[in-house]
Amino acid sequence: MTTITTEAWVLPSTVRQPGRGTLIREEFRFGEITAQEVLATPIYGCLEGNMLHAIERDPIDICALRGEDAVVLGNAGVVRVERIGGEVDLVREGDLCLVFGNAVWDEHGYPIKIMAYDAPGTMGVLARTMKLNQRQLIPIPAGSPYTLPQWAAFSLRYISAWANWRVAYACWQSQMLGVPPEETIVCAWGGGVSFAQLTLARQLGCPAIMICSNTDRFELLRQAGIEAINRSQFDAEGFEQGVLDAIAERTGGRGVSIFVDNIGGPVHRITLKALARQGVVATCGWKAGMRTMVARAIECLQRHIHVHTHYARYSEGLDAVRFAVEQDWMPPHDDRVWSWEEIPTLIDEYARGNVASYFPIFAVNA
Ligand SMILES: NC(=O)c1ccc[n+]([C@@H]2O[C@H](COP(=O)([O-])OP(=O)(O)OC[C@H]3O[C@@H](n4cnc5c(N)ncnc54)[C@H](OP(=O)(O)O)[C@@H]3O)[C@@H](O)[C@H]2O)c1
Repeated sequence: MTTITTEAWVLPSTVRQPGRGTLIREEFRFGEITAQEVLATPIYGCLEGNMLHAIERDPIDICALRGEDAVVLGNAGVVRVERIGGEVDLVREGDLCLVFGNAVWDEHGYPIKIMAYDAPGTMGVLARTMKLNQRQLIPIPAGSPYTLPQWAAFSLRYISAWANWRVAYACWQSQMLGVPPEETIVCAWGGGVSFAQLTLARQLGCPAIMICSNTDRFELLRQAGIEAINRSQFDAEGFEQGVLDAIAERTGGRGVSIFVDNIGGPVHRITLKALARQGVVATCGWKAGMRTMVARAIECLQRHIHVHTHYARYSEGLDAVRFAVEQDWMPPHDDRVWSWEEIPTLIDEYARGNVASYFPIFAVNA
């Protein structure tokens, strides 16, 4: 079988590098494309939480899980299709596409494993050339007025947000159909996925609140019509009560209708306390811890609905892209693009919380 060789930033297995991982720039080899696959040139990628979880080998060591020596990460980005397999009918050579990370799906299309993460044999955009299944690509609509970095930012976080919001809002309406959007208060903590969900809520007319610590983000939130609560104003001792009081003040004591919590761990308890009766807690992430404690009796008495989703099915990806173009629902354009050489620095800075952008973009072949 022919082998394709490319330059890549790879995450090596723990055998070669114990402890927290570091990306290594080296030649990476992979097999020729099959009938359903596409050879593609990644142009831009977007750094996101999964990549950091993989490098930190927390909660899982993906090389060990996949039984592979090295993995090329990167499941958010934009690529150009160079060559297609014999049965490919969703994309054509020359198409510009966004990466769609659902690699292994159930009989209803919902993801079980994610490309360039836990799906064996898959690779991501941290390579100068890559291959992927045609269903891991969504063509960028012709004549799109948005930049390729915006689509790279869209590819994972906005589609995750779209799919989670769809379920969360339907759950809210299942109990509170008569409540208009302007009385449906949506609050979030987290990063780019939560921001994207709040912008969806704003498009519907819901008041939106973001709890964040990075003051460089406040202007963006203001422009998006989202009220900010600066969580860094509270010390450890007064944190819970401080956040709850700030939310109570902004909701007139009614509490939050839909709370997007992609942080989990220590803050989940505050999320539940801040929810209104019949409130919905919506999550697809666990940035600060995947285990949570729930007082089931209280959750039942309050009629809280807990929504958990994981990325999206292909049809949701297509719907999200269509909605984005029709409703002008896009990530903000950011002038800062990190170079190929700067990728390890970007990852370190992002891990330390020093990157203000919700959507840090890096160039692969741009
Ligand atoms: N399952 C899926 O489909 C899916 C898809 C995408 C992402 N995810 C997961 O969702 C999580 C969030 O992803 P993301 O892309 O939205 O965020 P992100 O870009 O990784 O940023 C996380 C942000 O959360 C805030 N934060 C961090 N620790 C916090 C804490 N202890 N308390 C409160 N806020 C905290 C920080 O913002 P401030 O400093 O401004 O507060 C930080 O910048 C990650 O775990 C990611 O892997 C899952």
